[in-house]
Amino acid sequence: MDELASVDGTIGPAAEATIPVTDDGLLRGDGVFEVARLYAGRPFAWDEHVERLKRSAANLRLEFDLDAALAEVDALLARAGAVDGTLRLVITRGGRRIAVVAPLPAHTPAVALATIRYAPTRVLDGVKSLSYAANMLASRLAREAGADEALLVTPHGRVLEAPTSAFFYVLDGELHTPPLAEHILDSITRRHVVALTGATERVLHCDQVGELEEAFLASTTREVQPVSAIDGRPLPATPGPRTAAAAEALRRRIEQSVGVSSPRA
Ligand SMILES: Cc1ncc(COP(=O)(O)O)c(C=O)c1O
Repeated sequence: MDELASVDGTIGPAAEATIPVTDDGLLRGDGVFEVARLYAGRPFAWDEHVERLKRSAANLRLEFDLDAALAEVDALLARAGAVDGTLRLVITRGGRRIAVVAPLPAHTPAVALATIRYAPTRVLDGVKSLSYAANMLASRLAREAGADEALLVTPHGRVLEAPTSAFFYVLDGELHTPPLAEHILDSITRRHVVALTGATERVLHCDQVGELEEAFLASTTREVQPVSAIDGRPLPATPGPRTAAAAEALRRRIEQSVGVSSPRA
């Protein structure tokens, strides 16, 4: 599948799309973005992504033409056709509206995590900003430690999320997820999984990860992805029954919403 991009409404191959090098979106990571997953060309939960984009931009004091951005996305999707992949919408401080349709990133059936210390930037609460270098570095450090992905924990050892996904875990037979009050992203997939499974917010300390019965990551591109190990310690079940049930429930919701049978992640 060819990557297609729209920059302020001009559509073409993504590799040839350009923006000015002086854009602070590029120079300072000053901007906001969303990524939705496309199932046969239809974005899942697009309205929720648009709402979050509006909130992110308002919190970052970033004004942009929402109607133009949405019309440009419609035109890009019409051009892309019935693809399975991702739709990224980026608004930069320099005033660029960038939409990209790209293939789905490769995800393995399960992931091993390594804990990485991380302090969320309080001032960016409620902003899905372009400043992702810390998240990308955390993933790289986790891979250097022999894992597949990072599990971010605060300097006091409280578990947060992964660099681009929410974290769920089973402890004492119950499904939980770290609280939003820990300054993690209000993930759209997390919201759906919470609504579908009844998972509740509960603080998890990294000393407790040896007691976990199951764990999984949840995100737009991963849907539900089982966790096989944390810091080299295997989890008892991959996927465990609660993870498999969450994956199935989310898949059904997606299929009902987009009206097509979705391919496996
Ligand atoms: C830090 C972080 N947490 C969680 C998620 C998952 O969010 P969503 O379910 O909205 O894709 C993402 C997505 O990129 C993220 O960047």
